[in-house]
Amino acid sequence: MKVLVVGNGGREHALAWKLLQSQQVEQVVCVPGNGGTAKMANCQNLPLAVDDFDGISQYALANEISLVVVGPEVPLAKGITDYLQAQGLMGFGPVRAGAQIEASKTWAKSLMLEAGIPTAKAAVFTEATAAKSYIKAQGVPIVVKADGLAAGKGVTVATTREQAESAIDAIFQGQFGSAGEFVVIEECLIGQEVSVLALTDGLTIRPLLPAQDHKRVGEGDTGDNTGGMGAYAPAPIATPELMARVQTEVLEKAIATLRTKGIDYRGVLYAGLMITPAGDFKVLEFNCRFGDPETQVILPLLATPLVDLILACVQQRLEEMPPIAWHSGAAATVVAASGGYPGNYPKGKVITGINAAEAAGVKVFHAGTKLNNQQQIVTDGGRVLNVTGTGENFQQAIAQAYTGLKSIQFEGIYYRRDIGHRVLNEV
Ligand code: AMP
Ligand code: GLY
Repeated sequence: MKVLVVGNGGREHALAWKLLQSQQVEQVVCVPGNGGTAKMANCQNLPLAVDDFDGISQYALANEISLVVVGPEVPLAKGITDYLQAQGLMGFGPVRAGAQIEASKTWAKSLMLEAGIPTAKAAVFTEATAAKSYIKAQGVPIVVKADGLAAGKGVTVATTREQAESAIDAIFQGQFGSAGEFVVIEECLIGQEVSVLALTDGLTIRPLLPAQDHKRVGEGDTGDNTGGMGAYAPAPIATPELMARVQTEVLEKAIATLRTKGIDYRGVLYAGLMITPAGDFKVLEFNCRFGDPETQVILPLLATPLVDLILACVQQRLEEMPPIAWHSGAAATVVAASGGYPGNYPKGKVITGINAAEAAGVKVFHAGTKLNNQQQIVTDGGRVLNVTGTGENFQQAIAQAYTGLKSIQFEGIYYRRDIGHRVLNEV
């Protein structure tokens, strides 16, 4: 089989890498891919935009591509799967109607209420005055969210009324474009977050190993929010008892309710949960895709061939599949970022030491990298590399990732030294 992967992050490098481990997969084409997918054996990049549906379809039809696996939410929300289906191609990822579960927070909220899925109390506003009076009545802390896709930047956890009010103003003044026509104001939940990614064929839904990521840029989980500075799996806070509850109280309810709306949701359903100190949970958000960087720690532990699971979802025969098999142990990834991220940062810095790091046992997934004219790997984004360790336990996995990082250099490299601090003392 030839498979096309849409996207250019660490998640897509991990998907391509894992797909190529399946016997059936001979070749992967990444659109547009990055320096890591350009260098990987049996993998090549195709320089098209992720929302160039016509270009992607034409290439797939002309090159015997059997399957298109979509990484990011934007093409899903724009209907890439519907488009591919109309061309007779197989796409992994929900159709446009299903992707609303991520693309519209108000839509997702109503679905959760209809399905009886536990979630934070919320109210929706279309103008600032009413939103501000609501905040005055509710008090702080409180969470202000733009309704639509905002590349992870549309949420403010406000600890003062001024912060909440300026978040409301920014959204209604168009900072997030059409994503900001509605504002969702939510009760602030306290606890630990966990990401439960599940595979579904629209009828059956099977969770992957739970993962946790570190969203803040600074050590001790301080400073600005980022796309994620590191992650680890399996997250011990998501006990088997909790996962059983998530299966029946969240995942199955969501799929059943999508079905009653006439939506045949096939792909990844990702539930972002807040686990309260008492061990209860609520859903913070749904995503319609694999998480980044969660995928980079989940896939190294997956023993079942990924392509078999993906095909079972697309062809609606997940129920017939044996239980998903996992390698024992743990995985952890540390993000090496460009100095200045999540603010401004330079690009084009030459990266060295990746081969030496991999020789020491880690897997380096590329995120913001590309090949320059001299075929050198250079930085091309804020989050540059996901240096991923595996081992019998978290101590080993995390130590391996940091050992690998010692070999890697580029000007301005920054990474957190405390990835996995929550689990290091527990296991
Ligand atoms: P979302 O895109 O809705 O998941 O929000 C992004 C991040 O904002 C989450 O991962 C949380 O860290 C935080 N967040 C969202 N909603 C809440 C909430 N109700 N209470 C506390 N933190 C939240
Ligand atoms: N790691 C968070 C996300 O993928 O949305």
